[in-house]
Amino acid sequence: MKVQGKQTRTLWLEGSTVQMIDQRLLPHRFEIVPLPTHRETAVSIRDMWVRGAGAIGATGAYGTAQATLEAPDTPDEFNAYVDAAAETLRSTRPTAQNLFYGINRVLAAARAELPDVSRAREAAVATAEAIADADALGCQHIGEFGAELIGQDWGISTHCNAGWLAFVDWGSALSPIYAAARQGKKPFVYVDETRPRLQGARLTSWELTQEGVDHRLLVDGAVAHYMAWGKVQMCIVGSDRIARNGDVANKIGTLALAVLAQHHGIPFYVAAPTTTIDPLCPHGREIPIEERDEDEVLLIEGVAGNGELAEVRISPEETRALNPAFDVTPGRLVAGIITEVGVFPATATGIRQALDLADHGV
Ligand code: MRU
Repeated sequence: MKVQGKQTRTLWLEGSTVQMIDQRLLPHRFEIVPLPTHRETAVSIRDMWVRGAGAIGATGAYGTAQATLEAPDTPDEFNAYVDAAAETLRSTRPTAQNLFYGINRVLAAARAELPDVSRAREAAVATAEAIADADALGCQHIGEFGAELIGQDWGISTHCNAGWLAFVDWGSALSPIYAAARQGKKPFVYVDETRPRLQGARLTSWELTQEGVDHRLLVDGAVAHYMAWGKVQMCIVGSDRIARNGDVANKIGTLALAVLAQHHGIPFYVAAPTTTIDPLCPHGREIPIEERDEDEVLLIEGVAGNGELAEVRISPEETRALNPAFDVTPGRLVAGIITEVGVFPATATGIRQALDLADHGV
């Protein structure tokens, strides 16, 4: 997608350095941050300089490729170094399936070339690049399939940020909206602010502004009011992990939105590449849910009068908080899963069909 008229991806590899948009600073500042080794790359995932399933999947893939470039030249030492680096990258965040997909694919590609270490390095970099390219192309296809579901002048509700910043390009939930807007369908987007980290307020609003899509920011839960007034024709959200039975993990607050949509008879779609499906996870209750620091709930960050980023406390000093980063929406509340290979029911059969059609040949 374009930023200030320039084609930009969320992240890319330059030599052995990962370059990425520093999402902590958006929408106030647009800066690219260089990550010279896999260690900085791991920190960028853990501390959410980059976030969103596809984006952290590509970051994990690039971080593993970086590790192969840093590793010693003897096969045994190379293997030990890269294994340890992969473990560091895996331990950054627990929920998004794409992270594990990206790391494991690059690791497997490198190992297949051993004991030839230089070929292992080449295979790792080529595989990471292929994962990033497939993520961008897959999201473009999600946009094409999803746009067919969108009518003229529809109100569409979304939660969190499943736009291009959450992937390498295009995004999942926002990609159909971008495609529909380019087809002249004039979608109007109700953007949940998405407490506590405000990905909707900070990132989705920024993306939609850049792309010229009409939208309004709402406090979480306010969309019920517009649903009751008949203003919302559809919900589209992203996903961080999809179980084999069609249950879907996404940003905390998604389950509440799905229940609201069902109550008002509004179709609730999930958009995600098939790399978000965890073939080893039978049921949504098996999806690991990240618990984050309570300060994310107790403090709030913004730009102060002097133009600097600042944090302020919004609750009594003694108050403690719970901060689950994700929740699981049962497949029965989902009208369909929009993937890069088509739209499927959120059922065991639908998930099997999507996986059968998917080409993860990187
Ligand atoms: O904690 P985050 O920002 O990494 O959460 C991931 C998300 O952005 C959302 O859950 C999103 O809707 C799905 S990821 C494309």
